Amino acid sequence: MRRLLVTGGAGFIGSNFVRMVLSEHPDCLVVNLDKLTYAGNLENLTEFMSHKNHRFVHGDICDGPLVTRLLDEYRIEAIVNFAAESHVDRSITGPKIFIDSNVGGTLTLLEAARDMKVERFLQVSTDEVYGSLGSEGMFTERTPLSPNSPYSASKASADHFVQAFGRTWGLPYNITRCSNNYGPYQFPEKLIPLMIHNAIHDKELPVYGDGLYVRDWLYVYDHCTAIWCVLRNAPPGEVYNIGGCNEKPNLEVIRLILRHVGKPETLIRHVKDRPGHDRRYAIDASKIMRELGWKPSVTFEEGIAKTIDWYLANDQWLAHVVSGDYQNYYRTMYANR
Ligand code: NAD
Ligand code: DAU
Repeated sequence: MRRLLVTGGAGFIGSNFVRMVLSEHPDCLVVNLDKLTYAGNLENLTEFMSHKNHRFVHGDICDGPLVTRLLDEYRIEAIVNFAAESHVDRSITGPKIFIDSNVGGTLTLLEAARDMKVERFLQVSTDEVYGSLGSEGMFTERTPLSPNSPYSASKASADHFVQAFGRTWGLPYNITRCSNNYGPYQFPEKLIPLMIHNAIHDKELPVYGDGLYVRDWLYVYDHCTAIWCVLRNAPPGEVYNIGGCNEKPNLEVIRLILRHVGKPETLIRHVKDRPGHDRRYAIDASKIMRELGWKPSVTFEEGIAKTIDWYLANDQWLAHVVSGDYQNYYRTMYANR
């Protein structure tokens, strides 16, 4: 499949995916549909905006006629749906847009894909649809969905719609469920870039609750290669977990960032916890490794060092992203914590 509609390709993971495809797979055309919300940023793709195999379209995945026109005009063979509202804290303060984009938008894409007979629909989902783990065990593809936040509820709902389109209309689909990503171009509302940014600027590091919540980290490039592997090699109707076996408590990640940028641990401040905060995620990715031969390219230690160095070297990117609305967001989100 060489003619792709990538949605949300100006966001964090989507832009890393577009960069990987255009750089490593010169036979592919990428039509990149993005609404450019606060999280969408064309500076993530500066050097690829006039690439001969890249067509950027500013638009909404909820716009059915636009989606159908793109599928028709570019004879799209596969849709990779990254577009979503992606931040759990924002879903707690304002869940409605999560239903509109994550559920309604996915439904719009599914209807267009079915009607235009797209060969593959790849839904980029998340391990958060499985809910929270105690101290033992891992999420497998057979773990029942049990989302806890409005964000994960919207992603789980989208997953159910994708599977319903497969069963009802025979739409050829795959769903990927990845653990927490980190790497270049991540918006600094998420843990790792937020802590890097604050540490660089000697600002307090707001740690929710006791800081012992566990996330399972994967370098963004490795998420992109996993999606590519599924797109190229997976049979339709299969779900794949993606992760690199890098479980870390938040405080361990934060201390590592402080050491790397040479700042003191006195910057750490424990703040009010996130409501409904999932305690632990851990992903069993043995299915994609065994069946499709995918494996991550870097360890967490290598990936985090590359990531911190990237933010240090790209201070202009970071400065643009935190100007304007970000300041209001930060004040509102962290004022009463
Ligand atoms: P992001 O917030 O950085 O980017 C989302 C992109 O989608 C932005 O460019 C935004 O403009 C675009 N978008 C939002 N609503 C849209 C709409 N209605 N129409 C068109 N474009 C729209 O998100 P991310 O972290 O890159 O996540 C991408 C996908 O991967 C999401 O579906 C998310 O659920 C999933 N995911 C993320 C992670 C993670 O750790 N970040 C892990 C697993 C899965
Ligand atoms: O697991 C995959 C998911 O990972 C994706 O589906 C989501 O799109 C993505 O946002 C991410 O969700 P999390 O809620 O796990 O990521 P976040 O970076 O918001 O938080 C990571 C952990 O750090 C979590 O335990 C909350 C904590 N945290 C976060 C922020 C922003 C803090 O302690 N302080 C903070 O300021």
